[in-house]
Amino acid sequence: MANDKDFFICRCEEVTLREIEEVIDEGYHTIDDVKRITRAGMGLCQGRSCGKVIARIISQKTGKPLEEVLQTGYRFPVRTEKLKALEEEGPSDAENN
Ligand code: FES
Repeated sequence: MANDKDFFICRCEEVTLREIEEVIDEGYHTIDDVKRITRAGMGLCQGRSCGKVIARIISQKTGKPLEEVLQTGYRFPVRTEKLKALEEEGPSDAENN
């Protein structure tokens, strides 16, 4: 029987709140730790959907400030850019000098 902790925090890797809280209780207190143990944040979106939620859960359970949790392992998602967009920008000022 499912309860209120059996919902997905990381939908890409199907990792539930219960699983994340269990690894935090076992002593894994960084985003990278939780990622390595559960694979949360390693799915198709690379943590865009779940990364900050996982950080907040770690912060709430450990009492660490959210900023501290985010500094130790959360890499902001990078979006791809078409090379054509860079070409249209032209050379930077540094290249003109
Ligand atoms: S929702 Fe976690 S990696 Fe996409």
